[in-house]
Amino acid sequence: MTMKIGILTGGGDCPGLNGAIKWVTKTALDPRLVAKRFISFEVTGIADGWRGLVEVDPTDPKSRDRYLRHLDEEVVRTWDRYGGTNLGTSRTNPFNPQNDRSEKLIENIKKLGIDVLVVLGGEDTLGVAYKLHKLGIRTVGIPKTIDNDLMGTEYSLGFDTAVNVIMEEIDRLRTTAGSHGRIFVVETMGRHAGWLALHGGECSGAYIILIPEYPFDIDRVCELLRERRGREIKYSIIVASEGAKPEGQQELLRNGKIDDFGHPTLGGIASYIATEIEKRTDFESRSLILSHLQRGGSPSANDRLMARRFGMTAVDMIINEDFGRMVSLVRGEITSVPLKEIVDKLKLVDVEKYYDKERYNGRRSIL
Ligand code: F6P
Repeated sequence: MTMKIGILTGGGDCPGLNGAIKWVTKTALDPRLVAKRFISFEVTGIADGWRGLVEVDPTDPKSRDRYLRHLDEEVVRTWDRYGGTNLGTSRTNPFNPQNDRSEKLIENIKKLGIDVLVVLGGEDTLGVAYKLHKLGIRTVGIPKTIDNDLMGTEYSLGFDTAVNVIMEEIDRLRTTAGSHGRIFVVETMGRHAGWLALHGGECSGAYIILIPEYPFDIDRVCELLRERRGREIKYSIIVASEGAKPEGQQELLRNGKIDDFGHPTLGGIASYIATEIEKRTDFESRSLILSHLQRGGSPSANDRLMARRFGMTAVDMIINEDFGRMVSLVRGEITSVPLKEIVDKLKLVDVEKYYDKERYNGRRSIL
């Protein structure tokens, strides 16, 4: 029996996607495993996420060339070293009630002869995979998002690389912050969950960390800064998640744009905080948005390893007919969870467990 795997990446790109695609392909096509499994696979990469699968015209060779890519060992050999996604991505939502293209999507999956879809994405993209699963399409999910806010898994591809970028950039900032004796407010990604800011700030030794889960009082921020004065500390680093908000206020929006899944573009909290600090104290403050740098570059060692393990597990799941599920990491072990359990909710920072509400930082007691 031969099965055709279609594989796509959706939502924001991140390092680790290419590695997962490589390992799905290599594991599926591994000649030694083919002999043992009594099942062989073909792997087709779909360009630009759900948009590609909606827009491809299966009867038009030009369109097939544009949106479909035959994947084999030769094609994917070096992919694990590179960040981004070689398949391209989009934030297209085929089930968007304002422009529902789900019929076309299902028709194309059938016309292309795709037996199972491997979907690499965050909550939005995997939410589409779950809807398809309910409509009878075989799907397997692989978690990715630098925000690491997917339920049902301790790890999502891209997070470790992004935390490393935050740490490296803060290391760089320290020399200039120290030379001028300035406050630097660094804005990380993380729309709803503060994992990036918390882990990035903790491993950088940031003085203050502000996360979406715990609205902050700007006067308390200034008080904490003043407490350091006279202790021979010339500068301070504040890390703020893009979704961090002052008490009683909403997140800051970068523009009025809303994506296909209904998310606004956030941005500007670091600049807001730096301005407020200058208004309320005599500390000179600067701000910086790390933005998409956090999603760029090549994957860290951990992202390469996790991409490999997640990719291989996705193929195991296909063989075991574990459809409608997502590969996951639970208590350090690779397993899988039903997509049903991970949609329409997010894994937020447990403030009581991990956050020091007085110091605005990670907690100093673990047990
Ligand atoms: O994928 C999640 C994320 O990285 C968020 O942290 C961020 O708010 C958003 O994507 C940015 O999206 P875009 O790449 O569309 O600007």
